[in-house]
Amino acid sequence: MSQADDVPLEVVRTDDDVVIATLRNGKVNALSNRVLDAVADAAAEWAQDPPGAVVLTGGPKLFAAGADIDQFVAAAGDESGENDARSSGADTLVDGDAVRAIARSFRRAGQALESLGCPVIAEVSGYALGGGCELALAADLRIASDRAVFGQPEILLGIIPGGGGTQRLTRLIGPSRAKDLIFTGRQVDAAEAHRIGLVDEVVAHDRLRERTMELASELAGGPRRAMALAKAAINDGGQGSLDAGLDVEEQAFVDVFETDDAAVGVGSFRRHGPGKAAFSGR
Ligand code: COA
Repeated sequence: MSQADDVPLEVVRTDDDVVIATLRNGKVNALSNRVLDAVADAAAEWAQDPPGAVVLTGGPKLFAAGADIDQFVAAAGDESGENDARSSGADTLVDGDAVRAIARSFRRAGQALESLGCPVIAEVSGYALGGGCELALAADLRIASDRAVFGQPEILLGIIPGGGGTQRLTRLIGPSRAKDLIFTGRQVDAAEAHRIGLVDEVVAHDRLRERTMELASELAGGPRRAMALAKAAINDGGQGSLDAGLDVEEQAFVDVFETDDAAVGVGSFRRHGPGKAAFSGR
């Protein structure tokens, strides 16, 4: 792998003063702490010299497949040997400090995007699952290809969203719809995502970039101070308790890693692929 291939976030600033930031991490754009920290660090840099708009995007098939599940399990070769793929059943998961570090990386990245004084558009052309969906939720607007798929499948691993999903999804689409998606872990296509308010606009796959740039350039050409103030008023005005909500979620995310269901769910994912875990029901 060349050094250029190893950059988890590719950043281009266009002549229209739009930043296009593209997630790049392996086959499925899994959101490791390193990727999330790159997003947060980049956003901190943009805040010093704000562009007119930011477009956050991923790959054509995968915006991002969620938190990097490899970070959930204690290192292979640990003294217990329980995470050896040949052993069956549950995985030994990382400790609370490591889980909290994952939640905090998501939180830092999401809040860095939210606090930017310019519009942030998530351009989603494929799967935005788990943490991928949560990162898109931290954007101001979501434009999706008609091939995009959204979901919070954490429950299928015996855990819960820990990247802001219980808070931002609820605020965006309402508690009942958020519970439907989070309790079932089901995936929704672009049309349903649009119908329930999870995405703002659905565009034919081949026209996605054109439409995103059209909107981003329009916003970048607008009154920037007013745009920043409107964004801050909308974000801060209606959700004084988002931070408190994120505290609650962070602790719940740490706690869920203590459960047998999480160990079984993550273990099943790693051995048999997504969505096949059989939980104890306890
Ligand atoms: N973290 C780490 N690795 C992941 C991953 C994740 N979030 N999601 C997928 N992968 C890995 C798979 O285990 C697989 O690894 P392998 O090639 O070593 O077997 C590889 O990426 C490709 O995944 P695969 O399922 O074969 O690809 P696909 O193109 O058929 O499907 C997805 C892609 C994204 C639809 C599917 O992988 C998926 O549903 N992933 C799980 C998403 C999820 O549950 N996210 C929440 C995490 S809390």
